[in-house]
Amino acid sequence: LKEEALAKIAAASNSKELNDVRVAYLGKKGPITDLLKGMGKLPAEERPKMGALVNVVRQEVTEVLEARAQLLEEKAVQEQLEKESIDVTLPGRPIKVGSKHPLTKVVEEIEDLFISMGYEIAEGPEVEKDYYNFEALNLPKGHPARDMQDTFYISEEILLRTQTSPVQARTMEEKQGASVKIICPGKVFRRDNDDATHSHQFNQIEGLVISENITMSDLKGTLDLFAKKMFGQEREIRLRPSFFPFTEPSVEMDISCFKCGGSGCSLCKQTGWIEILGAGMVHPNVLEMAGYDPKKVSGFAFGMGQERIAMLKYGVDDIRHFYTNDIRFLSQFHRTE
Ligand code: PHE
Repeated sequence: LKEEALAKIAAASNSKELNDVRVAYLGKKGPITDLLKGMGKLPAEERPKMGALVNVVRQEVTEVLEARAQLLEEKAVQEQLEKESIDVTLPGRPIKVGSKHPLTKVVEEIEDLFISMGYEIAEGPEVEKDYYNFEALNLPKGHPARDMQDTFYISEEILLRTQTSPVQARTMEEKQGASVKIICPGKVFRRDNDDATHSHQFNQIEGLVISENITMSDLKGTLDLFAKKMFGQEREIRLRPSFFPFTEPSVEMDISCFKCGGSGCSLCKQTGWIEILGAGMVHPNVLEMAGYDPKKVSGFAFGMGQERIAMLKYGVDDIRHFYTNDIRFLSQFHRTE
């Protein structure tokens, strides 16, 4: 019996098989227990001898079983370690990096360009006073041109700015007669119904230069450089007369169409030209209200929509793509320059 048990223990190759052997030989229904139970039927003088013998066998089988159990356990741990070992020399898996939002890319590019020309970045509040958004920009209350921009009013005097132009007025006030050379990127708000080209909230970039002897040719040179840097060296610009209450004269700038090369297509609506921004020479009234002497200094200003620039630059056909955070749209701007 002992030999048989020991052979089975040695043959068990994992802890489950070993446990089966344990149950079979040492369990309640096993032969060793049977022997002990059967002691009562033996003649009294044989009992101590038999009892001692069975105990020795049980002891020995138990010991061998335990030793085997420990060995199997160690083997299992060893095997697991080998299976799960990490090869630290393997190259790592690439980490997925996000991409910059196309509007961020456009603003950064424009900022870099103007900073390289000596401009500073200015900021102003999005919740603005009627005074800075309109009055200081030569748009007194009741002026018909106020209707050009449908305004979200918070109270009679407070509104969500409809343009970044109030930063012009604020900056001039702050500089107290000194020269100004700023661009101001920021959010603006208008009561428009959202569609492919309109959004009740969008972003503009404003530019303002005030100094002695600033002329229209400074404006034109600056805008020409901007157009060529943003859209390609072969771009030409065209200034058309326009109207803004805070500039005189006022212009709108077009760039030559980069899709059809001037022969007319859907992008330029068959004209060969694409409208990009509004600009002009700062109106004397605006200078005066901010404490500047229009006889001594002059300046130019321009304002453009960031989304429009980005849409043209990257060929985006719906402004809503910028705000819906669809990763399939955003991830396309990984490497585009
Ligand atoms: N603020 C004007 C607009 O939102 C753009 C503009 C800015 C025009 C500066 C002229 C000068 O339409």
